Amino acid sequence: MFRKLTLTAVTTLAMATAPAIAAEVETEIEDYAFSFEGPFGSFDQMQLQRGLQVYTEICSACHGLELVAFRNLHDEGGPGLPEDQMRAYAEFYEVFDQSLFDGEGDFRPATPADKFPSSSLSNAPDLSLMAKARAGFHGPAGTGINQLVKGMGGAEYIASLMTGYHEEPECAADANMDGQYNVAFAAGGFPASCIDEHGHHMVPGSWISMSQPLYGDDVEYADGHSTDLEHVAQDVAAFLMWTAEPKMMARKQAGLTGVLFLTVLTVLLYLTNKRLWAPHKKKH
Ligand code: HEC
Repeated sequence: MFRKLTLTAVTTLAMATAPAIAAEVETEIEDYAFSFEGPFGSFDQMQLQRGLQVYTEICSACHGLELVAFRNLHDEGGPGLPEDQMRAYAEFYEVFDQSLFDGEGDFRPATPADKFPSSSLSNAPDLSLMAKARAGFHGPAGTGINQLVKGMGGAEYIASLMTGYHEEPECAADANMDGQYNVAFAAGGFPASCIDEHGHHMVPGSWISMSQPLYGDDVEYADGHSTDLEHVAQDVAAFLMWTAEPKMMARKQAGLTGVLFLTVLTVLLYLTNKRLWAPHKKKH
């Protein structure tokens, strides 16, 4: 708890003097291979559970997930927590219930129908839909072309953001920037001393007001999976992809069924067409 509070204070301080947003920023986004990519990809249940753990132990200190209900943690195709574990997880949170005490309201343990709390740090965005909001983060101006071609999307961005904290570049040595230098983050402050005479940024990324949340070995996994920074970052990114698109699997399946149906229909139409015209063609 102490660690979380310290982080919060630093971040709040940094935000108070947030510099203007920079334009035309190069970023470095790693093309991670996630299990849910491609037409046949699906979420890896164990990875989603590990990601939930990372969110719970670290990110939830600042970030909310206000669009996700606890009962969804039990969903097949999601983290798939057994029902009793999902219930126990919900009870770990407290929600304010206006109907208690004759309308005066009081706190009570959350139930499966309740949603995760909203962000406790006002400048930390809610993460429910973040993986979708940042899906078309690069490629020709917002076309999401890289997402289509390379399967790169919001999950890659989030994992890269987690691993994108670097030492400040030399050009910023005297700039006294607020926040931390991150090569994946585009929307933060940028020192004039790192912009050349043509107005180009000499280094990728920008300065973010979120203190580095993950360093590796931040959590202990029950399944023995590696807790390297890269792995923990991908786990939490996969979990946030699921919160943003919990029905991805169902959507992909419907898409495949649709393609199959259209293929059969095409063949049938082709044969019908041939048969209809056959008598007329013979005459010539
Ligand atoms: C100490 C508080 C704190 C913690 C802990 C924290 N964040 Fe943040 N986070 C912030 C703040 C503040 C911002 C807004 C940064 C900005 O816009 O400069 C932010 C922004 C973000 C963004 C949005 C970046 C963008 O493109 O706008 C993502 C994604 C994110 N955090 C993910 C995470 C994840 C995943 C974790 C847990 C591993 C985490 N954060 C832990 C405070 C925190």
